[in-house]
Amino acid sequence: DKGAHRHFMSKEIAEQPEVVGHTLVRFIDMTSGRVRLPAGGDFDFSGLDRLAISACGTAYYAGLVARYWFEKFARLPVDIDIASEFRYREPPLTPGGLALMISQSGETADTLATLRHCRAQGMKIGAVVNVPTSTIAREADVVFPTVAGVEVGVASTKAFTCQLAVLAALAIKAGRDRKVLSEEDEAKLVASLIELPRLMAETLRLEPQIEKLAQTFSKALDVLYLGRGTSYPIALEGALKLKEISYIHAEGYAAGELKHGPIALVDENVPVVVLAPYDALFEKTASNMQEVAARGGRIVLITDREGAGHAGDTLATIVVPDSYAFVSPLIYAIPVQLLAYHTAVFMGTDVDQPRNLAKSVTVE
Ligand code: F6R
Repeated sequence: DKGAHRHFMSKEIAEQPEVVGHTLVRFIDMTSGRVRLPAGGDFDFSGLDRLAISACGTAYYAGLVARYWFEKFARLPVDIDIASEFRYREPPLTPGGLALMISQSGETADTLATLRHCRAQGMKIGAVVNVPTSTIAREADVVFPTVAGVEVGVASTKAFTCQLAVLAALAIKAGRDRKVLSEEDEAKLVASLIELPRLMAETLRLEPQIEKLAQTFSKALDVLYLGRGTSYPIALEGALKLKEISYIHAEGYAAGELKHGPIALVDENVPVVVLAPYDALFEKTASNMQEVAARGGRIVLITDREGAGHAGDTLATIVVPDSYAFVSPLIYAIPVQLLAYHTAVFMGTDVDQPRNLAKSVTVE
Protein backbone atom coordinates (compact mmCIF):
# COMPACT_ATOMS: atom_id res chain seq x y z
CA ASP A 1 0.00 0.00 0.00
CA LYS A 2 1.48 3.29 -1.14
CA GLY A 3 -0.73 5.36 1.15
CA ALA A 4 -0.77 8.96 -0.02
CA HIS A 5 2.40 8.47 -2.10
CA ARG A 6 2.52 8.20 -5.87
CA HIS A 7 5.22 5.55 -5.78
CA PHE A 8 6.58 3.03 -3.32
CA MET A 9 9.97 4.68 -3.68
CA SER A 10 8.59 7.97 -2.40
CA LYS A 11 6.89 6.21 0.51
CA GLU A 12 10.07 4.31 1.35
CA ILE A 13 12.20 7.47 1.27
CA ALA A 14 9.73 9.14 3.62
CA GLU A 15 9.72 6.17 6.01
CA GLN A 16 13.43 6.41 6.71
CA PRO A 17 13.36 8.34 10.00
CA GLU A 18 10.94 5.78 11.38
CA VAL A 19 12.64 2.59 10.15
CA VAL A 20 16.13 3.81 11.02
CA GLY A 21 14.71 4.46 14.50
CA HIS A 22 13.29 0.91 14.63
CA THR A 23 16.63 -0.48 13.54
CA LEU A 24 18.60 1.55 16.07
CA VAL A 25 16.50 0.39 19.03
CA ARG A 26 17.52 -3.16 18.17
CA PHE A 27 21.20 -2.22 18.53
CA ILE A 28 21.20 0.44 21.24
CA ASP A 29 20.31 0.14 24.90
CA MET A 30 18.49 3.44 25.30
CA THR A 31 18.91 3.56 29.09
CA SER A 32 22.67 3.07 29.20
CA GLY A 33 23.30 4.81 25.87
CA ARG A 34 25.54 1.94 24.79
CA VAL A 35 25.48 -0.40 21.84
CA ARG A 36 23.88 -3.74 22.64
CA LEU A 37 23.67 -6.30 19.86
CA PRO A 38 20.35 -8.12 19.41
CA ALA A 39 19.84 -11.41 21.22
CA GLY A 40 21.43 -14.28 19.32
CA GLY A 41 23.49 -11.82 17.34
CA ASP A 42 26.23 -11.05 19.82
CA PHE A 43 29.74 -10.95 18.46
CA ASP A 44 33.09 -10.06 19.97
CA PHE A 45 35.35 -8.15 17.58
CA SER A 46 38.39 -8.11 19.87
CA GLY A 47 40.27 -11.09 18.46
CA LEU A 48 39.98 -10.12 14.77
CA ASP A 49 42.94 -8.97 12.72
CA ARG A 50 40.83 -8.05 9.67
CA LEU A 51 37.22 -7.82 8.60
CA ALA A 52 36.09 -8.93 5.13
CA ILE A 53 32.97 -7.21 3.76
CA SER A 54 31.17 -8.19 0.60
CA ALA A 55 27.94 -7.07 -1.09
CA CYS A 56 26.46 -5.83 -4.38
CA GLY A 57 25.16 -2.48 -5.60
CA THR A 58 23.74 -0.19 -2.96
CA ALA A 59 24.57 -2.66 -0.18
CA TYR A 60 28.20 -2.55 -1.31
CA TYR A 61 28.17 1.24 -0.92
CA ALA A 62 26.91 0.79 2.65
CA GLY A 63 29.94 -1.46 3.14
CA LEU A 64 32.25 1.22 1.73
CA VAL A 65 30.97 3.71 4.33
CA ALA A 66 31.39 1.07 7.04
CA ARG A 67 35.04 0.61 6.10
CA TYR A 68 35.76 4.20 7.17
CA TRP A 69 33.93 3.58 10.46
CA PHE A 70 35.53 0.25 11.35
CA GLU A 71 39.00 1.52 10.52
CA LYS A 72 38.55 4.80 12.39
CA PHE A 73 36.63 3.75 15.49
CA ALA A 74 37.92 0.19 15.91
CA ARG A 75 41.30 0.33 14.12
CA LEU A 76 40.12 -2.82 12.35
CA PRO A 77 41.47 -3.18 8.79
CA VAL A 78 38.67 -3.90 6.32
CA ASP A 79 38.87 -5.79 3.05
CA ILE A 80 35.88 -4.96 0.92
CA ASP A 81 34.93 -5.97 -2.57
CA ILE A 82 31.82 -6.31 -4.67
CA ALA A 83 30.56 -9.84 -4.20
CA SER A 84 30.88 -10.74 -7.90
CA GLU A 85 34.63 -10.03 -7.70
CA PHE A 86 35.45 -11.12 -4.18
CA ARG A 87 36.03 -14.78 -4.97
CA TYR A 88 38.02 -14.12 -8.13
CA ARG A 89 40.37 -11.84 -6.25
CA GLU A 90 41.08 -14.81 -3.97
CA PRO A 91 41.93 -12.63 -0.97
CA PRO A 92 43.88 -14.51 1.70
CA LEU A 93 41.27 -15.16 4.39
CA THR A 94 41.98 -15.96 8.03
CA PRO A 95 40.17 -19.06 9.29
CA GLY A 96 38.18 -17.97 12.33
CA GLY A 97 38.00 -14.43 10.95
CA LEU A 98 34.73 -12.61 10.28
CA ALA A 99 33.19 -12.17 6.83
CA LEU A 100 30.31 -9.71 6.74
CA MET A 101 27.70 -9.93 3.97
CA ILE A 102 25.29 -7.04 3.42
CA SER A 103 22.05 -7.66 1.55
CA GLN A 104 18.52 -6.29 1.57
CA SER A 105 16.90 -9.32 -0.04
CA GLY A 106 19.24 -11.93 1.40
CA GLU A 107 18.97 -13.77 -1.93
CA THR A 108 21.56 -12.05 -4.14
CA ALA A 109 23.40 -14.86 -5.93
CA ASP A 110 26.87 -13.32 -5.86
CA THR A 111 26.65 -12.40 -2.20
CA LEU A 112 25.43 -15.88 -1.33
CA ALA A 113 28.23 -17.47 -3.35
CA THR A 114 30.75 -15.29 -1.49
CA LEU A 115 29.21 -16.30 1.83
CA ARG A 116 29.67 -19.98 0.94
CA HIS A 117 33.21 -19.35 -0.30
CA CYS A 118 34.17 -17.64 2.98
CA ARG A 119 32.51 -20.39 5.01
CA ALA A 120 34.51 -23.00 3.09
CA GLN A 121 37.65 -21.10 4.10
CA GLY A 122 36.71 -21.51 7.75
CA MET A 123 35.44 -17.99 8.35
CA LYS A 124 32.63 -17.02 10.61
CA ILE A 125 29.77 -15.38 8.68
CA GLY A 126 27.87 -12.30 9.76
CA ALA A 127 24.98 -10.95 7.70
CA VAL A 128 23.41 -7.50 7.70
CA VAL A 129 20.14 -8.49 6.09
CA ASN A 130 16.61 -7.15 5.78
CA VAL A 131 14.62 -10.29 5.00
CA PRO A 132 14.95 -12.50 8.08
CA THR A 133 13.73 -15.66 6.31
CA SER A 134 16.15 -15.29 3.40
CA THR A 135 18.87 -17.75 2.40
CA ILE A 136 21.70 -15.44 3.47
CA ALA A 137 20.07 -14.92 6.89
CA ARG A 138 19.63 -18.69 7.29
CA GLU A 139 23.18 -19.56 6.27
CA ALA A 140 24.92 -16.88 8.36
CA ASP A 141 26.29 -17.64 11.84
CA VAL A 142 25.26 -14.24 13.17
CA VAL A 143 22.45 -12.10 11.76
CA PHE A 144 22.47 -8.35 12.25
CA PRO A 145 18.94 -7.45 11.15
CA THR A 146 17.93 -4.23 9.47
CA VAL A 147 14.35 -3.38 10.33
CA ALA A 148 13.44 -1.49 7.16
CA GLY A 149 10.23 -3.47 6.58
CA VAL A 150 9.31 -4.66 3.10
CA GLU A 151 11.05 -2.63 0.40
CA VAL A 152 9.02 -2.69 -2.81
CA GLY A 153 10.72 -0.08 -4.98
CA VAL A 154 13.46 -1.72 -7.01
CA ALA A 155 15.82 1.16 -6.22
CA SER A 156 16.89 0.61 -2.64
CA THR A 157 16.43 3.54 -0.25
CA LYS A 158 15.31 2.75 3.27
CA ALA A 159 17.17 -0.57 3.31
CA PHE A 160 20.38 1.37 2.59
CA THR A 161 20.06 3.81 5.49
CA CYS A 162 19.07 0.95 7.81
CA GLN A 163 22.18 -0.96 6.69
CA LEU A 164 24.23 2.12 7.57
CA ALA A 165 22.56 2.31 10.99
CA VAL A 166 23.42 -1.33 11.75
CA LEU A 167 26.98 -0.97 10.48
CA ALA A 168 27.48 2.20 12.54
CA ALA A 169 26.40 0.34 15.68
CA LEU A 170 28.67 -2.60 14.83
CA ALA A 171 31.64 -0.29 14.32
CA ILE A 172 31.06 1.27 17.74
CA LYS A 173 30.77 -2.19 19.30
CA ALA A 174 34.00 -3.18 17.58
CA GLY A 175 35.68 -0.04 18.90
CA ARG A 176 34.61 -0.94 22.43
CA ASP A 177 35.65 -4.60 22.11
CA ARG A 178 39.04 -3.58 20.77
CA LYS A 179 39.49 -0.93 23.48
CA VAL A 180 39.86 1.88 20.98
CA LEU A 181 36.80 3.77 22.18
CA SER A 182 36.39 4.86 25.79
CA GLU A 183 32.99 4.69 27.44
CA GLU A 184 32.74 8.43 26.92
CA ASP A 185 33.57 8.13 23.19
CA GLU A 186 30.93 5.45 22.83
CA ALA A 187 28.32 7.58 24.61
CA LYS A 188 28.98 10.49 22.22
CA LEU A 189 28.77 8.34 19.10
CA VAL A 190 25.60 6.64 20.31
CA ALA A 191 24.04 10.01 21.13
CA SER A 192 24.63 11.11 17.54
CA LEU A 193 22.92 7.94 16.27
CA ILE A 194 19.91 8.52 18.53
CA GLU A 195 19.47 11.97 16.99
CA LEU A 196 19.31 10.57 13.47
CA PRO A 197 15.55 10.00 13.09
CA ARG A 198 14.92 13.64 13.97
CA LEU A 199 17.65 14.95 11.64
CA MET A 200 16.49 12.69 8.82
CA ALA A 201 12.91 13.94 9.22
CA GLU A 202 14.22 17.50 9.00
CA THR A 203 16.19 16.62 5.87
CA LEU A 204 13.05 15.29 4.19
CA ARG A 205 11.58 18.78 4.39
CA LEU A 206 14.04 19.84 1.68
CA GLU A 207 11.98 17.90 -0.86
CA PRO A 208 10.25 20.90 -2.52
CA GLN A 209 13.62 22.60 -3.10
CA ILE A 210 15.11 19.43 -4.57
CA GLU A 211 12.07 18.80 -6.75
CA LYS A 212 12.71 22.14 -8.46
CA LEU A 213 15.99 20.76 -9.82
CA ALA A 214 14.26 17.89 -11.63
CA GLN A 215 13.71 19.79 -14.86
CA THR A 216 17.37 20.79 -15.17
CA PHE A 217 18.53 17.27 -14.39
CA SER A 218 16.06 15.71 -16.80
CA LYS A 219 17.84 17.50 -19.67
CA ALA A 220 21.32 16.35 -18.70
CA LEU A 221 23.07 13.55 -20.57
CA ASP A 222 25.66 13.07 -17.85
CA VAL A 223 25.76 13.95 -14.19
CA LEU A 224 28.76 13.76 -11.87
CA TYR A 225 28.59 13.21 -8.10
CA LEU A 226 31.60 14.09 -5.95
CA GLY A 227 32.42 13.45 -2.30
CA ARG A 228 35.34 12.82 0.02
CA GLY A 229 35.62 10.50 3.00
CA THR A 230 32.30 8.88 3.86
CA SER A 231 30.60 11.26 1.39
CA TYR A 232 32.40 9.45 -1.41
CA PRO A 233 30.30 6.26 -1.17
CA ILE A 234 27.20 8.48 -0.95
CA ALA A 235 28.29 10.12 -4.22
CA LEU A 236 28.48 6.62 -5.74
CA GLU A 237 25.04 5.82 -4.36
CA GLY A 238 23.56 9.09 -5.67
CA ALA A 239 24.86 8.32 -9.16
CA LEU A 240 23.52 4.76 -9.04
CA LYS A 241 20.06 5.95 -7.93
CA LEU A 242 19.90 8.49 -10.77
CA LYS A 243 20.94 6.06 -13.49
CA GLU A 244 18.69 3.27 -12.24
CA ILE A 245 15.44 5.17 -12.34
CA SER A 246 15.95 8.10 -14.74
CA TYR A 247 18.35 6.31 -17.16
CA ILE A 248 20.58 9.37 -17.15
CA HIS A 249 24.26 8.52 -17.23
CA ALA A 250 25.77 9.39 -13.87
CA GLU A 251 29.07 8.65 -12.16
CA GLY A 252 30.26 9.12 -8.63
CA TYR A 253 33.88 10.02 -7.96
CA ALA A 254 36.09 10.72 -5.01
CA ALA A 255 36.39 14.50 -5.27
CA GLY A 256 40.18 14.26 -5.39
CA GLU A 257 39.99 12.06 -8.49
CA LEU A 258 38.27 14.80 -10.50
CA LYS A 259 41.46 16.20 -11.97
CA HIS A 260 42.74 12.72 -12.81
CA GLY A 261 40.26 12.32 -15.63
CA PRO A 262 36.57 13.08 -15.13
CA ILE A 263 37.06 16.85 -15.25
CA ALA A 264 37.48 16.41 -19.00
CA LEU A 265 33.71 15.82 -19.13
CA VAL A 266 32.78 19.02 -17.34
CA ASP A 267 31.09 21.79 -19.28
CA GLU A 268 27.92 23.85 -18.83
CA ASN A 269 25.78 20.84 -19.76
CA VAL A 270 27.02 18.58 -16.98
CA PRO A 271 25.47 19.11 -13.56
CA VAL A 272 27.90 18.27 -10.77
CA VAL A 273 26.44 17.27 -7.43
CA VAL A 274 28.91 17.92 -4.63
CA LEU A 275 28.38 16.30 -1.22
CA ALA A 276 30.37 18.29 1.30
CA PRO A 277 29.55 18.62 4.98
CA TYR A 278 31.63 21.33 6.65
CA ASP A 279 34.16 18.92 8.14
CA ALA A 280 37.93 18.53 8.02
CA LEU A 281 37.71 17.73 4.28
CA PHE A 282 35.50 20.64 3.22
CA GLU A 283 38.23 23.02 2.06
CA LYS A 284 39.71 20.41 -0.25
CA THR A 285 36.36 19.59 -1.79
CA ALA A 286 35.62 23.32 -2.15
CA SER A 287 38.75 23.71 -4.28
CA ASN A 288 37.54 20.86 -6.51
CA MET A 289 34.25 22.74 -6.78
CA GLN A 290 36.10 25.82 -8.01
CA GLU A 291 37.76 23.71 -10.69
CA VAL A 292 34.30 22.65 -11.85
CA ALA A 293 32.95 26.21 -11.74
CA ALA A 294 35.93 27.50 -13.75
CA ARG A 295 34.84 25.16 -16.57
CA GLY A 296 31.26 26.36 -16.52
CA GLY A 297 29.98 23.29 -14.68
CA ARG A 298 26.72 23.76 -12.81
CA ILE A 299 27.11 22.79 -9.19
CA VAL A 300 24.49 21.48 -6.85
CA LEU A 301 26.11 21.66 -3.44
CA ILE A 302 24.70 19.57 -0.63
CA THR A 303 26.16 20.83 2.62
CA ASP A 304 25.31 22.13 6.09
CA ARG A 305 24.85 25.71 7.30
CA GLU A 306 28.54 26.40 7.83
CA GLY A 307 29.44 24.88 4.44
CA ALA A 308 26.79 27.00 2.69
CA GLY A 309 28.48 30.09 4.13
CA HIS A 310 31.74 29.04 2.47
CA ALA A 311 30.28 28.05 -0.91
CA GLY A 312 31.02 29.95 -4.08
CA ASP A 313 28.59 30.23 -6.96
CA THR A 314 26.26 27.27 -7.34
CA LEU A 315 23.16 26.41 -9.31
CA ALA A 316 21.64 25.39 -5.99
CA THR A 317 22.86 24.92 -2.43
CA ILE A 318 20.91 22.40 -0.44
CA VAL A 319 21.41 22.93 3.27
CA VAL A 320 20.88 19.82 5.37
CA PRO A 321 20.77 19.90 9.18
CA ASP A 322 24.05 20.07 11.09
CA SER A 323 25.19 16.71 12.39
CA TYR A 324 28.28 14.96 13.68
CA ALA A 325 30.50 13.95 10.78
CA PHE A 326 30.03 10.33 11.88
CA VAL A 327 26.34 10.17 10.94
CA SER A 328 26.40 12.45 7.90
CA PRO A 329 26.12 9.57 5.35
CA LEU A 330 22.61 8.76 6.59
CA ILE A 331 21.59 12.39 6.14
CA TYR A 332 23.28 13.09 2.80
CA ALA A 333 21.76 9.93 1.33
CA ILE A 334 18.32 11.53 1.47
CA PRO A 335 18.80 14.50 -0.90
CA VAL A 336 20.43 12.29 -3.53
CA GLN A 337 17.55 9.82 -3.31
CA LEU A 338 15.04 12.66 -3.68
CA LEU A 339 16.94 14.17 -6.59
CA ALA A 340 16.90 10.86 -8.47
CA TYR A 341 13.25 10.29 -7.61
CA HIS A 342 11.99 13.68 -8.78
CA THR A 343 14.09 13.63 -11.92
CA ALA A 344 12.61 10.25 -12.84
CA VAL A 345 9.07 11.37 -12.03
CA PHE A 346 9.58 14.47 -14.16
CA MET A 347 10.76 12.27 -17.04
CA GLY A 348 7.87 9.87 -16.62
CA THR A 349 9.87 6.67 -16.19
CA ASP A 350 8.58 3.66 -14.25
CA VAL A 351 10.11 4.65 -10.93
CA ASP A 352 9.24 1.56 -8.90
CA GLN A 353 9.94 -0.92 -11.66
CA PRO A 354 12.78 0.48 -13.81
CA ARG A 355 13.57 -1.25 -17.09
CA ASN A 356 15.97 -4.20 -17.05
CA LEU A 357 16.17 -4.35 -13.26
CA ALA A 358 14.90 -6.91 -10.75
CA LYS A 359 14.43 -6.43 -7.00
CA SER A 360 16.40 -9.51 -6.21
CA VAL A 361 19.20 -10.72 -8.48
CA THR A 362 19.36 -14.50 -8.13
CA VAL A 363 21.73 -15.25 -11.01
CA GLU A 364 25.46 -14.52 -11.02
C1 F6R B 1 20.18 -0.38 -6.07
C2 F6R B 1 19.78 -1.74 -5.91
C3 F6R B 1 20.77 -2.84 -6.18
C4 F6R B 1 20.87 -3.72 -4.94
C5 F6R B 1 21.77 -4.93 -5.21
C6 F6R B 1 21.95 -5.78 -3.97
O1 F6R B 1 19.15 0.50 -5.85
O2 F6R B 1 18.66 -2.00 -5.53
O3 F6R B 1 22.01 -2.32 -6.51
O4 F6R B 1 21.35 -2.94 -3.89
O5 F6R B 1 21.21 -5.70 -6.23
O6 F6R B 1 20.75 -6.32 -3.53
P1 F6R B 1 20.60 -6.94 -2.10
O7 F6R B 1 20.83 -5.88 -1.11
O8 F6R B 1 19.20 -7.49 -2.06
O9 F6R B 1 21.64 -8.03 -1.97
